[in-house]
Amino acid sequence: MRIDIISVLPELMASPFQTSILKRAVDKGVAEVHFHQLRDFGLGKHRQVDDEPYGGGAGMVMMVEPIDKCISELKTQRTYDEVIYLTPDGQTLNQKIANTLSLKKNLIFLCGHYKGIDQRLRELHITKEISIGDYVLTGGELAACVLADAVIRLLPGVLNDEQSALTDSFQDDLLSPPIYTRPATYRGLSVPEILLSGNSKKIEDWLHEQAVKITAEKRPDMLQ
Ligand code: ADE
Repeated sequence: MRIDIISVLPELMASPFQTSILKRAVDKGVAEVHFHQLRDFGLGKHRQVDDEPYGGGAGMVMMVEPIDKCISELKTQRTYDEVIYLTPDGQTLNQKIANTLSLKKNLIFLCGHYKGIDQRLRELHITKEISIGDYVLTGGELAACVLADAVIRLLPGVLNDEQSALTDSFQDDLLSPPIYTRPATYRGLSVPEILLSGNSKKIEDWLHEQAVKITAEKRPDMLQ
């Protein structure tokens, strides 16, 4: 998979891809992540990328031309499956969206800033708008990192068996059951007997029961 990320602050996103599992995915060539400095497509000697909104109001608007030029140039090089704009008014990211995107080949992530992008960009290029939650960040960069992380970890060969994505919370519409490791007793707190029983069928049933119970307690909305 290739992800092209367009931003005025690409340096903000470097470290997640230089560390741990995402770094391994990049090193293995399973994921290619390319950053594009939007200012390189800015107008005039100040490389302007934003301007005041027509009709007035507070805040600046990201101009249509620099973003159009950047995306259009990328589109001359390959076909993109989705051009995703990270914005608080997008569709809220969930595991299903991450699963779907993990099957794509080429993605563009556009990071918004200020008040947002000129509406015409939505008509010209944007195929999906994604929010990482109902709160407002200073820009789309951290949201782009969250989305990239959620997607890249699902690519074949990124996680090893121990980290398998198949047993994640949300993958079967349930939260994960409780987990334990050694010691069997710590400060008087013991690991549930069943997990020490060696009876894999019973353990599997118990884990499922626990997952349902925990989901009902913490996220009853998921069971509806
Ligand atoms: N940009 C600012 N806030 C955001 C959010 N919650 N999700 C995605 N992009 C954003």
